[in-house]
Amino acid sequence: MSNAYIRGLGFYVPKTVVTNQDLETVMDTNDEWIVERTGIKERRHVGRGLEETSSDLGLKAAESAIENAGIDKNEIDFIIFATLSPDLYFPGCGVLIQDKLGLDTIGALDVRNQCSGFIYALSTADAFIRSGRYKNILVIGSEVHSMGLDMTTRGRGVSVIFGDGAGAAIVSATDEEDRGILSYNMHSEGKYAEELMMGFPGSKYGWTDLLLTEDFEPDFEKIYPYMNGNFVFKHAVTRFPEAINEALNDAGYRINDIKMLIPHQANMRINQFVQKQLSLRDDQVYTNIHKYGNTTAASIPIALAECVQEGKIQKGDLVCLAAFGSGFTWGSILMRW
Ligand code: UT7
Repeated sequence: MSNAYIRGLGFYVPKTVVTNQDLETVMDTNDEWIVERTGIKERRHVGRGLEETSSDLGLKAAESAIENAGIDKNEIDFIIFATLSPDLYFPGCGVLIQDKLGLDTIGALDVRNQCSGFIYALSTADAFIRSGRYKNILVIGSEVHSMGLDMTTRGRGVSVIFGDGAGAAIVSATDEEDRGILSYNMHSEGKYAEELMMGFPGSKYGWTDLLLTEDFEPDFEKIYPYMNGNFVFKHAVTRFPEAINEALNDAGYRINDIKMLIPHQANMRINQFVQKQLSLRDDQVYTNIHKYGNTTAASIPIALAECVQEGKIQKGDLVCLAAFGSGFTWGSILMRW
């Protein structure tokens, strides 16, 4: 039985940098509040009129990952695409990538697990590779949030946090026994689905009811993302350490064995809290939220790609990925680089 390992990584972020000062010009917010509460200094937006979609960003990240892996794109035998901001309500982005990359009629699966999307996607890739069904799987996490955010003071609790970007990995089979994904876990708690959600366009809310209230005003809570920030924060700081410890226990390791933890970049304060709870050093936790904000399903592959580029992860290192978000869903992956 083969193990699954990450053979190549790539990422892409749009060119337009939106600083906290830029946001001050369109809503009642300020740099001090955003930095103190989230650690974010700037994020990328595709920019209106530039017509970059989640599959466009995902394609650029994928091309870079394919080059980094040193494989021919036609060696890819399956696609998994994680996003909460697909180009179309249906079909998903996976098929768009199959077309844009000009691949044969290979399978393409879309994952709808928001901030945990990349953990779910990578775990799924691992299962397919271990089963012997596929050899090289393209896994993408990509988001264009900026087209769907309420960029007024009404939406400031959500809109200052999220950014656009994409990360991709080529996940391949290896016969090296102590290499690649060693353990993973995935969890969900759907009773909290509406604590972090977007109702539109969904079958729960009739289109007319959703878009037009009696006053013929859009129902802003349904057409834009809604987040009960404090509630999400409290659950995140509990679930992150649980999931990380579970992945370590399942593989027979301890926290001190980790070379690098790559947490989902939702909020710098969440990651600092988790670091403290697990007694990890600064150099064991990777952070890039100050540059990109929260890019949901893209945040882990972007951070992992940057971390590897910076030479902070070497072959043989123990690396842990962990995420928590809307659903609620959460999970963790432990791998030997
Ligand atoms: O990635 C998916 C998972 N998501 C997360 O993990 C996010 C978890 N939650 C959080 O990161 C934090 O809850 C937030 C960053 C979203 C919010 O931080 P907070 O410390 O929980 O602030 P708050 O929502 O309690 O708001 C505090 C105050 C409020 O004013 P009052 O009522 O105290 O007068 C807000 O209206 O801050 C106000 N506020 C803002 N002020 C300036 C909210 N957003 C802003 C803003 N600029 N952008």
